[in-house]
Amino acid sequence: MEVDFKELVVNEFSGKNAQLLYIKKAKEGLWDSESYFFKQYFTKKKASILDIGCGTGRTTIPLVKKGFTVVGIDITPAMISNAKNIAKKNKLRIDYRVGDATRLAFENESFDYALFSNQGWTQIPGKKNRLSALTEVCRILKPQGMYIFTAHIRKWTSKYFFFYLKQWMRFYLLKPLGFPIEEIEFGDRLFERPAADPKEAAASKQYIHIPAKKEVMRSIQKSGFEILEVNGSMQRSYSRPSKDLPTFFICRKK
Ligand SMILES: C[S@@+](CC[C@H](N)C(=O)[O-])C[C@H]1O[C@@H](n2cnc3c(N)ncnc32)[C@H](O)[C@@H]1O
Repeated sequence: MEVDFKELVVNEFSGKNAQLLYIKKAKEGLWDSESYFFKQYFTKKKASILDIGCGTGRTTIPLVKKGFTVVGIDITPAMISNAKNIAKKNKLRIDYRVGDATRLAFENESFDYALFSNQGWTQIPGKKNRLSALTEVCRILKPQGMYIFTAHIRKWTSKYFFFYLKQWMRFYLLKPLGFPIEEIEFGDRLFERPAADPKEAAASKQYIHIPAKKEVMRSIQKSGFEILEVNGSMQRSYSRPSKDLPTFFICRKK
């Protein structure tokens, strides 16, 4: 039986481990890279922003504190419930709603800006659905509206060459031969999420798609955006640098 990746994503993010992790994450605030890009591109004062896949509010809270009018949506009801608790505890009035990026419940041209942080877009299973999310974001943005999202990109560098070679063989050789390979598209990954509490066992499987850069760029262009910048060189945190950097895609509605 094929795995329902959408259900897997919601179930995984609803679990106790994931919720503990994301309750902690709400306090982390913006990454250094996010601060840089938001300052650069979200320039209009008091602009309206849709924070897609907002989780417990890690990015929503600082954007509200900067004076933007932010609506945070997430497909996982437990995320929204904890986001609301955290906002209440901090005496912040934030409009959080359960919502799916592939079918946005907003009128055309409702927002100045939108974001989908922390590789959330690549947790939408299926190329067609990821394209729908892009088209939907474009629809709800005002003309010239900005959209910023991130993805981990497939890199056939020496570090990952054998990993992707194995994935390629699993997907293009073993799967057609009838082996039980869960991935639906090449680039799909199912990995163990580490436990939030070290005393607990690792949580169950988590889905993410690691796309090729050109696949992302083609989808962006098909959805009605122009690409202003693609940048995979900024650190999340300059005090704790990492080698695995997400790529930022900066898009503007045409
Ligand atoms: C990696 S988490 C990031 C959460 C938050 N942005 C942060 O950085 O802490 C990705 C989030 O995207 C949400 N998500 C996944 N698919 C979604 C969809 N189709 N529509 C809205 N949210 C989605 C998940 O429920 C999850 O909360």
